[in-house]
Amino acid sequence: MEIKAFSVEEWMNAYETSAVYNIAETCVDSLTLEELVTLDGTNPDEFFRSLYDVKLTYGHIEGSPEFRQLVAANLYSSIEPHNVLVTNGGIGANFLVFYSLVQPGDHVISVHPTYQQIYEVPKSFGATVDLLPLRPENNFLPDLDELKSLVKSNTKCICINNPNNPSGAVMERDMLERIVEIARSCGAYVLCDEVYRNLLQADDADVPSIVDLYEKGISTSSVSKALSLAGLRLGWIAAPQEVIAECMKHRDYTTISCGMLDDILAVHALKNYDKILQRNRTIVRDNLAILDDWVNKEPDFSYVKPRAGTTALLKVDVPVPSVTFCTGLLANTGAFLTPGACFDMEGYVRIGYACSSPVLREGLEKVSEYVRKLK
Ligand SMILES: Cc1ncc(COP(=O)(O)O)c(C=O)c1O
Repeated sequence: MEIKAFSVEEWMNAYETSAVYNIAETCVDSLTLEELVTLDGTNPDEFFRSLYDVKLTYGHIEGSPEFRQLVAANLYSSIEPHNVLVTNGGIGANFLVFYSLVQPGDHVISVHPTYQQIYEVPKSFGATVDLLPLRPENNFLPDLDELKSLVKSNTKCICINNPNNPSGAVMERDMLERIVEIARSCGAYVLCDEVYRNLLQADDADVPSIVDLYEKGISTSSVSKALSLAGLRLGWIAAPQEVIAECMKHRDYTTISCGMLDDILAVHALKNYDKILQRNRTIVRDNLAILDDWVNKEPDFSYVKPRAGTTALLKVDVPVPSVTFCTGLLANTGAFLTPGACFDMEGYVRIGYACSSPVLREGLEKVSEYVRKLK
């Protein structure tokens, strides 16, 4: 099966481990095992001792009842635990939805720029994919007249990513409801990649899940970003029952279960969802203030200030392509950014600003130094 290389993943695989100041990472500063376990005052020795007797079977195939119940209760308002299916990360959730629903001849629409998987995988399964551009002059939000003009009678799925990686734009209730109306007009599913959901800058932003808005809404998510637990490799699909059934039928061929220990630790995290979210909102808000100060002082950088998530696209005025800029920056200073070319956004770099504040400050200083040297 033909598929293009996944540019951002190739970039991270090649360089991430040599970064001294990793300001390309998209997770909110990851938790250690000890930080996770002790969040609610649990004694770590007792916690880990309680695992000694766990028999390492496949465990619950579709995710433990507790995991599915906590996901349904913490993140959604209208679904039941049986509407949640555990997967290997958010990436596994997206893949499984496309593997289960998309057939040759289908039409799929995806926002762009976004996580490349969301438009490349349906294409690889034989769909015709139209991209709906997210432009800086529209604050990286979609033009819904343009979306209307793209839908067809065979549109199987409209794919969105809310909040958006890489721009940090977020669509609120009103816009989501209008997207649902357009999808309903042609009977299309809406897949919304919601791995950054709830990482909001403003307390009053109203950003419901697509699964709570639309009878054919499919939410994909994970514990990687908003819960700082990428090492657990646990994600899920939250969707109507017929979609879950189709995904389960297909998942039997790729995944038996997703690992008992990961499930146990994710359950502990989901029990403390509010605590982790509060920690992480503080990190993204404090760090965006640092980034905003820096952008305002740097004449060669500008941006649409993100309203959610962990990333921003910085427009950069340097005399070299974005890949050359980022490889040079890393080699000369140890600071690590992602080139806009990974998102077909030449002239930009993507920053992940949810690392620890000292790393962000030092990384930005290195970027300033390097740009001055280049000029
Ligand atoms: C929008 C989006 N979806 C999915 C993923 C995959 O995340 P994971 O599989 O760790 O949950 C990423 C990772 O960067 C992402 O940015």
